[in-house]
Amino acid sequence: MRIVLLGAPGAGKGTVAKSLTEFDGSVQISTGDILRNAVKAGSELGKKAKGYMERGELVPDDLIMDIMEVRMKEPDCQKGFLLDGFPRTIPQAEALKKLLDKIGMKLDAAINLDVPTDVILDRLTTRRTCSNPDCQEIYNVKSNPPTADGKCRKCGTDVIQRADETEEAIGNRLKTYQDKTAPLIVYYEKAGLLKNFLSLNSRETVENVKIALKGA
Ligand code: AP5
Repeated sequence: MRIVLLGAPGAGKGTVAKSLTEFDGSVQISTGDILRNAVKAGSELGKKAKGYMERGELVPDDLIMDIMEVRMKEPDCQKGFLLDGFPRTIPQAEALKKLLDKIGMKLDAAINLDVPTDVILDRLTTRRTCSNPDCQEIYNVKSNPPTADGKCRKCGTDVIQRADETEEAIGNRLKTYQDKTAPLIVYYEKAGLLKNFLSLNSRETVENVKIALKGA
């Protein structure tokens, strides 16, 4: 399947994407993960993106499109893809459409994960992430904790709290989402691609998404 995953920060895009790729063999492409790895590696991209990310602002569209043009032409995308955290603005959605037209592909659906703000705030402050760039398993100290000594249950690497999980950055990310990203819900609804899910339990959400996609 070729899917865009929409949702506020902490809505569960990464969690749901990981389960869905295991189900249909498509590749998860998270612009957030690509950028965090670039920051960690200290690459040119990472240097440009770091400040925006730590403040909870969006990285400029042209930088994101440069990354995605290259990434979406890689052979693994032929099997299908789940775009997690991209597009994030109307210009990115329009650029994605042009790019897909150019490489002869079409989106099957835009999945929106709808979660109340109080639940989101709780999730973001309790999330922990595996620091191994090849793993990046997502944990939650309440509902899905790492090992007692703070290691990843999959690969044994330290599990950490992300740099953009300060109260101030979380506030900025939620405001940026409302201003720049939420309009994509109407954009994909008009394109006839939107599928909306109230997402309070990730296992249930994954099952509901699978059922909806079988009928897509
Ligand atoms: P990005 O990494 O995309 O961050 P985000 O959208 O803020 O999303 P998150 O990763 O915070 O949350 P998620 O929805 O994946 O939730 P998760 O599954 O982890 O982007 C980071 C930054 O990079 C941006 O701020 C921006 O600066 C930049 N950037 C990235 N893409 C960009 C773009 N296209 N354009 C411009 N800039 C870009 O779940 C959260 C927590 O909740 C976890 O603890 C999880 O265990 C728990 N949880 C999830 N689902 C459930 C559930 N159903 N029930 C209980 N707990 C749950």
